Amino acid sequence: MADKKTSSGKGRKKTPVNAEPKAVKETVTAAEVSVEEALPEPRRSVAFIGSECYPFVKTGGLGDVMYALPRALTKQNCDVKVILPRYKCIPEKYQEKMVYRGSFMMDLCADTRAFYVGIMEMEMDGVVYDFIDNEDFFSWGNPYTDLVKDIPKFCFFGKAALAALNYLDWTPDIIHCHDWQAGLVPVYLHTLFSDTPVGRAKSMITIHNLRFQGIYNIPTIQYWSGLPGYVFDHTLLKQGYEDANMFKGGLAFANCITTVSGTYAQEIQTPFYGENLDAHLRFHSGKLHGIVNGIDIDIWNSETDKLLAANYNVKDVLKKKKENKRALQERLGLEQDDGKMVIGLISRLTNQKGLDLVNAIFPELIDGNTQVVILGTGDAQYEDAFRYYESVYKGTVCSYIAYDEGLAHQIYAGADALLVPSLFEPCGLTQLIAMRYGTVPIVRETGGLKDTVEPYNKYADSGNGFTFDRYDAGLLLDAVIRAKTVYFTERERWDEIVQRDMEKDVSWAKSARQYRELYLQLRP
Ligand code: ADP
Ligand code: GLC
Repeated sequence: MADKKTSSGKGRKKTPVNAEPKAVKETVTAAEVSVEEALPEPRRSVAFIGSECYPFVKTGGLGDVMYALPRALTKQNCDVKVILPRYKCIPEKYQEKMVYRGSFMMDLCADTRAFYVGIMEMEMDGVVYDFIDNEDFFSWGNPYTDLVKDIPKFCFFGKAALAALNYLDWTPDIIHCHDWQAGLVPVYLHTLFSDTPVGRAKSMITIHNLRFQGIYNIPTIQYWSGLPGYVFDHTLLKQGYEDANMFKGGLAFANCITTVSGTYAQEIQTPFYGENLDAHLRFHSGKLHGIVNGIDIDIWNSETDKLLAANYNVKDVLKKKKENKRALQERLGLEQDDGKMVIGLISRLTNQKGLDLVNAIFPELIDGNTQVVILGTGDAQYEDAFRYYESVYKGTVCSYIAYDEGLAHQIYAGADALLVPSLFEPCGLTQLIAMRYGTVPIVRETGGLKDTVEPYNKYADSGNGFTFDRYDAGLLLDAVIRAKTVYFTERERWDEIVQRDMEKDVSWAKSARQYRELYLQLRP
């Protein structure tokens, strides 16, 4: 094992920097990426740094974006590397495909303890994935455990990702960081790594969810990060009297901040949605942009999806959805009747997702003609409530308390409507997937839900779903009743919404172009 420690960085010693490249395989070139049209010039190189990525490890939408956006960027003439922790929970079939690219020892903490950093690599469809290997930090089953473990883990990960780029001798134009777990990366770039090759890169940080920020007391974060004292200032990492906030630091130091919808970019500058960082974000609003997420339209394709009982497109959706509905009812032990309206909910079960509203109106959702299917895991209070409703309404309600990709696909295809009544929703992907599968979303007008679901307007015969504005159970019920009324009494209108939804562009193409534009503004 090569010891690649060298010294550099403002006032610090023994920060891993430019090491002899040990490349065994070059990253993908423009010619290797298959494209249907001419690639826009100039080519740009981007390193994504984040804590999860489908299909290796996914707990929510961040995993989807870390998979789909790099692929979409390759079609925008970007050379993308995705840097991830090598968690033990990554399935064996992917672990087997990883190739050892090298390793070095890296000092991390204020007391210069050295830690092993291994780099395992694989390539998939033009995107290179580098997994940071370290048994001490990543041998747990889940990507996230508790802050006591996660704070050191993601201090290590952020620094190791940059050290790995230096080790691989790959200095991208842009380092694109995602959420608080990569929050220290822009801070490291401007401090310990500023005099190293990777220090030349520009940084972007994307807020997928401001609720989670990586906050802990200053001595702990200062110890694990090894960062100099001056960054623990109120305008940078310091929060309140004694805490440091990793996300806050990343937002301060990044050259550019993005979040995953235009509405959320506005919302987070207000106290209600700002999670105590609204003033910080208002201060940095000049570099804050909202770009709405897309979905991977190859994975989410009802014509080819192997997990469905019947494949379909916009022409035969009305017939084939019934077959998918029957199969779903059969699988979940619901009464098999395609005349029933099936309302789905696929979600992490946390208060972000508006489940208090669902809970409040649940008995009123059930009317003899409606079935409800819930797929999710999370807080015990919601899991228990939904289990209870299943026991009360046997054959009409199914609460499937689990994480199950296959069932998620079957619900998107077999349900008539999908509920997303979130308290806040930076973007939300489930409403996008639902629309692509001809399932009509019922959403609260917040964040990306507001930006992606146009409310149904019966006079103009337009819109994609049913919406409500204030966070109020009565308004959710009203939206559900409006949806039911169209479903049961104006079926042609409903069917038109279904078809409009399937034809809506929910792909990444437009948003990937917007990211590319920002990359070019950062480094023309
Ligand atoms: P968030 O990231 O806040 O959880 P998103 O709507 O952005 O919400 O993304 C959620 C993603 O996770 C979607 O791909 C959705 O299908 C998936 N998902 C959520 N819960 C489950 C579950 N229990 N089983 C399978 N997939 C799920
Ligand atoms: C977060 C948000 C969700 C968003 C996802 C991907 O988990 O809660 O709204 O769609 O990230 O950006």
